[in-house]
Amino acid sequence: MFKIILIDPDLAYLEKMSAALTPFCEHIDTAQTGQNAQIKLSQCKFDFAIIDVATTDHPSLSVVKYMKLNSPATKIIFTISDPSILVQLMLTTNDLLNIGISHILPKPFILSELLPYLQCEQAVVQKVTKTALSPMEEINDEKFTRIALNDLIANDYAIFDFYFRINKNQYQKVFSKHEIIDFDYIATVNQKKFEYLYFKTKDRVTYLSYLNSLVEKFQSLPNIPAITKVKTMQNLSVKFIEEVHASGLNPFLVAECETICQNMFSLVKKDKFLSEQLDLLQEKSYSLYYHSFLVSFLTTVACKSLQWETWDLIYKISMGALLHDIGKIKLSSNIMLLPKWEIPESLKAEYTTHTELGAKLLENCSKIPQEVKSIVANHHISNASDSLIANTSFHKVYPPAQLVGMVDSMANIMIQHEINVEKSLALLLSLPDSIPEKKQCHQQFIDAISKCFINHQK
Ligand SMILES: [Fe+2]
Ligand SMILES: [Fe+2]
Repeated sequence: MFKIILIDPDLAYLEKMSAALTPFCEHIDTAQTGQNAQIKLSQCKFDFAIIDVATTDHPSLSVVKYMKLNSPATKIIFTISDPSILVQLMLTTNDLLNIGISHILPKPFILSELLPYLQCEQAVVQKVTKTALSPMEEINDEKFTRIALNDLIANDYAIFDFYFRINKNQYQKVFSKHEIIDFDYIATVNQKKFEYLYFKTKDRVTYLSYLNSLVEKFQSLPNIPAITKVKTMQNLSVKFIEEVHASGLNPFLVAECETICQNMFSLVKKDKFLSEQLDLLQEKSYSLYYHSFLVSFLTTVACKSLQWETWDLIYKISMGALLHDIGKIKLSSNIMLLPKWEIPESLKAEYTTHTELGAKLLENCSKIPQEVKSIVANHHISNASDSLIANTSFHKVYPPAQLVGMVDSMANIMIQHEINVEKSLALLLSLPDSIPEKKQCHQQFIDAISKCFINHQK
C-alpha cells in the first residue's frame, strides 16, 4: 500500500484515476494545478507522484524540481498525452529521465500498465540502516562528477547516490539516494581521508537545482559566512557549465541559468564583503568551468558600481558572462578546454571562432535574451566595426560585452600568473595600447573594478 498524488489539469481524469487506484493505496490525493500540488507535497510525504506534462500554474517541470529537492524519495511518473509537447519544450525522454523522472507513461493508459510499476518500485522506497560501505564497484571514471567533502552540506536525505573513488574506475558507495547524510558515518568509513565524494554525472541536473535552492535560502539566513556563499555559488556555476558542455543548453539548463544569475546578483547586491572572499577561492590551475564562474562573478560585482544597476540588465550581463565561452563546445576536443595562453599558434585561428560558434549555438534559442547573445558574440571584439551582433539600444559595440571581454582577460591573467584581481588589473593595464585586450579597458570599467575589488582593502 502506498501514498500517491495525481497531478493533472483534467478533472474528469483525476476523478476516474483516483477511484481506480483507491483500492491499492493507503492514501491518494489529487491536484489540478502545480501550485496546489506543491502545497499538498509540502504537507504529506508521497511515495509516488503521477504528474501530467501539461500541468500549469506552476508548470510540471517546476513541480518536478520542487519534488527532487523537497521530497527526493517520491518517485515521479510523467504522463504525456501528446508527444508533440516534448518537441515544443525541446525535450527528449532521455532529458526527462536525466532529471530524475522514474517512468514516462503515454496517455491514455490502463491500470494494468501502471500497477506493476508501482508495486515493483515500492520495494525500493524503503529506508536502509547503514552499517558498512557497500562492495567495490567497477564503474568508468567518465561517468562521475566529484564534489569536495567540505562542500557537502547536511541535508535530510541524499538526493542521489554518493561514492568514494577508491582507484581508477573503482568506486564504493557511501550513501544511497534517500539515505540520511550522516557526517559521523563518513568520518568512520573514510579511513583513507578522501577529500571528495563522487556522484553519477547523470544526476548533475538534480545537484544544480539543489545548489540553486541552497543559495536562495542563504538570502534569508544572515549567519552564513560570506566564503560559504561564494564557494556554493562557485560550485553551482562550475557544475552548470560542466553540464552545458556535456548536454548542450536545454530548457532545464536555461531555467537553472536564470536562477543562478538571479541568485548571484542577489548575493552580490546584499553582501558588500562578498568580493573580498575571492582571494580565498583562487584556483591554481585553469579550468574552463572555473574561468566561466570567475568571469561571471567579477562582472556581476563590477556591475554594482556601474550605472547599469537595473535588475533586468545585470541579470542578463551575469548570464552573458557565465555563458560567454559557450562556443568552445564546438571547438575540437584538443583545444576546447585549454587556456588561451596554451593554444598552439597553428590552432589560434580555430580558437578565435568560439565567439561566432557561440552566437550560432544560441541563435535559435528564444529563451536566451538578445543581450546575452551579444555578449557571447562580441566579448573579444574591441573594434565597433567587427561587431557580430550590434545592439542598437547601446553603443556600437555593446558595452557589457566589452566589460566581459576585459574581465575575461583579467581572469586569464589571474590564473596564468597566480595573482589576485588587483595585480591582474595592473598587469593588464601595463600592456601596450595596441593590443585588443587593452582596447577593451575603458576607464569606467577600470574604476568599477578598482572600487569593488581594490579600494575596499585599503
Ligand atoms: Fe572567449
Ligand atoms: Fe573566456
